[in-house]
Amino acid sequence: MLSYTVPSSPVAVADELAALYARVFAEPPYREGPADVRVFVRNYTEDVAHPGFGVVVAHDDGTAVGFGYGTARRPGEWWPGCDAPPPPEIVECPSFAVYEWAVDKPYRGRGVGREIMVRLLADRPEPWATLAVHPHADAYRIYIRAGWRQVGMSYIADRPAMAVLIRRTS
Ligand SMILES: CC(C)(COP(=O)(O)OP(=O)(O)OC[C@H]1O[C@@H](n2cnc3c(N)ncnc32)[C@H](O)[C@@H]1OP(=O)(O)O)[C@@H](O)C(=O)NCCC(=O)NCCS
Repeated sequence: MLSYTVPSSPVAVADELAALYARVFAEPPYREGPADVRVFVRNYTEDVAHPGFGVVVAHDDGTAVGFGYGTARRPGEWWPGCDAPPPPEIVECPSFAVYEWAVDKPYRGRGVGREIMVRLLADRPEPWATLAVHPHADAYRIYIRAGWRQVGMSYIADRPAMAVLIRRTS
């Protein structure tokens, strides 16, 4: 049975999230491998200590099948390499940066991802959320349909160009 939790110890779920991350982001257009999974684990374990960290995990009978996480950012803090400056909404207030959002393939299209995102953004003190998404991923269209607005592109050497999106948290 599906359940959604905010883990009491976010570090304790790092291994199961890494296993899920590895499965999901091995798919195109990402085609990530073990080195990328290690980067995920390093970033995640650093981010849990960040102020305003938030994570939601979906489990099915004890197995993690989806998750989303992010951290709060100071006013004006923005995506590196973005070709547009942060819009006024982001300059004026703290924002919530969504770093990962993933659902295991067999569980997609059933509202699991939506429920994770709704819970992740619920009751955030930051009025706006931001994220960077691969423009060729299905997720890009999902975000736009869900009311996210593209405000720029982020270009970082040796990494795919990413669309930078913002949306109100509530
Ligand atoms: C993005 C992702 C997390 C969505 O999870 P999901 O459980 O399939 O999403 P849901 O079933 O809750 O669907 C969310 C919305 O997107 C729509 N949607 C789902 N799949 C879609 C697709 N392939 N194309 C367009 N829209 C789609 C649904 O109809 C739903 O719309 P609604 O809320 O208006 O009803 C999942 O597809 C995934 O893990 N993708 C690979 C990883 C990824 O790209 N993550 C984002 C990185 S930034």
